[in-house]
Amino acid sequence: MPYKMWRVLDLIRWTSEYFAQHAIPNPRLDAEVLLGHLLEKSRLQLYLHFEMPVFQEHLTPFRELIKKRVARTPVSYLTNRKEFMSLDFYVDERVLIPRPETEQLVETILTAQTDGPQRLLDVGTGSGAIATSLAVHQPEWQLVATDISEAALAVAQQNAETHECTEQITFLSGDLFEPIQAIENAKFDWIVCNPPYIKKAERDTLSPDVRDYEPDVALFAGDDGLAIIRRLIAEAPEHLVPNGKLLFEIGDTQADTVRTLLDAHPAYCTYNLRKDYAQKERLVLASV
Ligand SMILES: C[S@@+](CC[C@H](N)C(=O)[O-])C[C@H]1O[C@@H](n2cnc3c(N)ncnc32)[C@H](O)[C@@H]1O
Repeated sequence: MPYKMWRVLDLIRWTSEYFAQHAIPNPRLDAEVLLGHLLEKSRLQLYLHFEMPVFQEHLTPFRELIKKRVARTPVSYLTNRKEFMSLDFYVDERVLIPRPETEQLVETILTAQTDGPQRLLDVGTGSGAIATSLAVHQPEWQLVATDISEAALAVAQQNAETHECTEQITFLSGDLFEPIQAIENAKFDWIVCNPPYIKKAERDTLSPDVRDYEPDVALFAGDDGLAIIRRLIAEAPEHLVPNGKLLFEIGDTQADTVRTLLDAHPAYCTYNLRKDYAQKERLVLASV
């Protein structure tokens, strides 16, 4: 970035072009979000202050952010923020950045007919986005949120504190259902999970933003991507109340295998696969 007197609009234009030259997807949006983050202004406020000069104290850190974005650090790790279910979540490289399609898991539970306060288990909570947004929307509900990554759980706990719902959520670390053995009578109305489901061999096909920055443990699940989903389907029923529900996300090529796995398990009475906004079967709701 050349040395000169910079104004907000010049900076946005220069950075968008620079990002575009480096094949950064959504160059203008990223430029605006990063500058807004640094100047502590929303994108709307930036638009209202296009002529405002930007001084050296902000230009130096902005150059650093630009360099990191060109090295493909995801914007959410640079701003440490991601919105999910209209709530603001802290994120960093310890956790997967919550995806918009995962909001459908939360919406499915919130719009289901429920009988009194629900008890839920969020397996692989990551940033805690699912558990925290459910707790915020349903203050009477109790949740257990688990993750194999203690580093991720620390982030989830921080987010629950920010949204003042730590009394509703018990955080436990460990492999899948192993940590809930410590809870007496641990039966749930809902088990919800956005598991890792990418095949190891697909690593090179991922965007560098994902592949080089998001935690491997949050992305990959063995040679066929089904290592966690297979165990989830097999083990969930013994932790559900009668008529309890297992709700989870799958990869867009996994629907047929998941149907076969559910058909083969005697505990599931009904199930259906739901499409995401891109019309792919990405959501599984199964009842015991
Ligand atoms: C795809 S991320 C989902 C994170 C968060 N629930 C979300 O939707 O944004 C999967 C999460 O599962 C956790 N995980 C992976 N393997 C696990 C296992 N065997 N037991 C428990 N958690 C696991 C990862 O650490 C990661 O946080």
